[in-house]
Amino acid sequence: MVIPVEDAADARLADYVRLRDVDLRRSVESERGLFVAEGEKVIRRAIGAGHPVRSVLTTAKWLDALADVVGGTTVYLVSDEVMEGVTGFPVHRGALAAMERTELPSVGALLSDAERILVLEDLVDHGNVGAIFRCAAALGVGAIVLSPRCADPLYRRAVKVSMGAVFAIPYARMTDWHGGLAEVRAAGFRLLALTPDQSAVPLDEAPLSGRVALMLGSEGDGLSSHWLHEADQPVCIPMSPRAMDLGVDSLNVVAAAAVACHGLLRR
Ligand SMILES: C[S@@+](CC[C@H](N)C(=O)[O-])C[C@H]1O[C@@H](n2cnc3c(N)ncnc32)[C@H](O)[C@@H]1O
Repeated sequence: MVIPVEDAADARLADYVRLRDVDLRRSVESERGLFVAEGEKVIRRAIGAGHPVRSVLTTAKWLDALADVVGGTTVYLVSDEVMEGVTGFPVHRGALAAMERTELPSVGALLSDAERILVLEDLVDHGNVGAIFRCAAALGVGAIVLSPRCADPLYRRAVKVSMGAVFAIPYARMTDWHGGLAEVRAAGFRLLALTPDQSAVPLDEAPLSGRVALMLGSEGDGLSSHWLHEADQPVCIPMSPRAMDLGVDSLNVVAAAAVACHGLLRR
């Protein structure tokens, strides 16, 4: 069902309004139980992961490419100007889909199947969360546990940066920050806290066999003192002795995740 829409303020496009406004999107998406997938490939992966499509917003140029996936779905057909007017930016990938969220597994259910996992504490940048899911998919990590306040993997930018890996790597969100790590340990995981503190055990010497949970902290403050204290072992990726002189005291959290996941893969 293809419906041409000529007015960016049309109420039927409400699922797509101001996609770069993080606060607005957080409330719209949680109220309506939706998220927005951007681009043909990502839309296909979201559908493949079982997310029902609420509607598609696209321009004439991209309609044919999506014809086989959107049969039976409402497709709002707009000009580039209307697309930008609704979303607040030029959508280069030409197609957006409003998709239904599905229920996440509990942490306990998630851990029953996983061998190597990441645990993310309070990351705020959606791009970083998406990139870490992509690392996990590329480097053999089986699942991701999020702290209660960690940024949403289904936020548009996270989905986009992950290239759809958020649909391939199962994840769960803790409900209890304080006691959450105890549940991970009780499931048989060794908790390794990744920290830039160069007095910690270097990654190459860390115990990476068996069930391992690599913990990563937020972009600003890193892991909280409570989580560092709860960990079985702090682990660092050794940095150049010149790094401090250059004003660099840590790696970006995505770079740290990539190096650490690669370390796991090699064991
Ligand atoms: C940008 S850093 C946070 C920096 C913060 N000032 C700190 O001291 O943790 C974000 C996260 O990346 C990881 N990280 C960054 N550099 C690292 C390193 N050299 N070794 C291990 N993990 C690192 C840690 O998990 C850290 O919490």
